[in-house]
Amino acid sequence: MILVTGANGHFGSLTIDFLLKGGIDASQISALVRSEEKAQALKVKGINIILGDYNDYTSLVKAFSGIDKLLFVSGTDLLNRTSQHRSIVKAAKEASVKHVIYTSGAFKTVTAESPLWLFAEAHIKTEQWLKESGLTHTLLKNGLYMDYLPYFIGNVLETGMIYLPAGDGKISMALRSEMAEATATVLSTEGHKNKTYDFVGTEAYGYEDIARYISETTKNTISYISPTEVEFRDSLKKVGQNIPEEFLGIILAQAQGDADIQSGDLEKLIGRPLTPITSFLQEIYKV
Ligand SMILES: NC(=O)c1ccc[n+]([C@@H]2O[C@H](COP(=O)([O-])OP(=O)(O)OC[C@H]3O[C@@H](n4cnc5c(N)ncnc54)[C@H](OP(=O)(O)O)[C@@H]3O)[C@@H](O)[C@H]2O)c1
Repeated sequence: MILVTGANGHFGSLTIDFLLKGGIDASQISALVRSEEKAQALKVKGINIILGDYNDYTSLVKAFSGIDKLLFVSGTDLLNRTSQHRSIVKAAKEASVKHVIYTSGAFKTVTAESPLWLFAEAHIKTEQWLKESGLTHTLLKNGLYMDYLPYFIGNVLETGMIYLPAGDGKISMALRSEMAEATATVLSTEGHKNKTYDFVGTEAYGYEDIARYISETTKNTISYISPTEVEFRDSLKKVGQNIPEEFLGIILAQAQGDADIQSGDLEKLIGRPLTPITSFLQEIYKV
């Protein structure tokens, strides 16, 4: 039996769809959800629904019992997820889960001084706990979902520029759906025990490149301006906006080259080349 956590979310539900598409019978898939109401779409597909919460240890041990493969999707509550993940690993151990597949993060950061620490801490510690637990595991180090790029760069067609303190930092991204597809391969095939995969693109791009691609696609001139962190904060203050610290942390980490990790792992697992960033941008900004 496969159990997918975060199954009402984007990544979990996409992974379940790829499992079904790949021929895994719905009777072999369970979904951990917090809300049964929100799980109607999964129910219709014949998926077994299990209620559980990362904050409720007892619910996790119960949900994990008898599970062969657990897809542990990282939590969204950044302030509490390190302790939530501690409980999940403990519960998987107590329930004797045979194989835990964890959606970790891809970054070069390892210290608390990094601007990315708010995101990285839970991933770094969870990887360590999984290794120390003796549980069979697979680490899927997810890079930035390309789907999030428009959120980072803002309304460029209106402003005519990408204005971010990311310097010359390069980012390697891939579509969330392609990461989910590769995850379904890991869940449904053999040969992945105690392995680590980098779920990132085969190439990395700077915001200068991204501005150029959008210019080419839209025939508008989009420039890239990289202010200092102070200038960036000041400019937002002037228009009465506050920048979420976690967002700024990601950008500053990108400036330091933290997201410049390339790999062929995803391509191998999905068996075809990844969707290139230019195709993604054409789709988003098509006129
Ligand atoms: N690589 C990236 O660029 C990137 C970007 C964003 C997020 N992420 C990480 O990747 C994960 C998957 O992304 P996504 O797009 O699928 O996010 P999503 O759509 O927000 O889904 C997250 C799922 O986690 C579940 N969840 C959150 N807290 C929980 C708790 N206490 N107990 C049980 N379930 C809980 C949510 O349940 P409900 O449906 O009940 O809310 C939801 O189903 C995220 O959780 C986050 O850790 C990565």
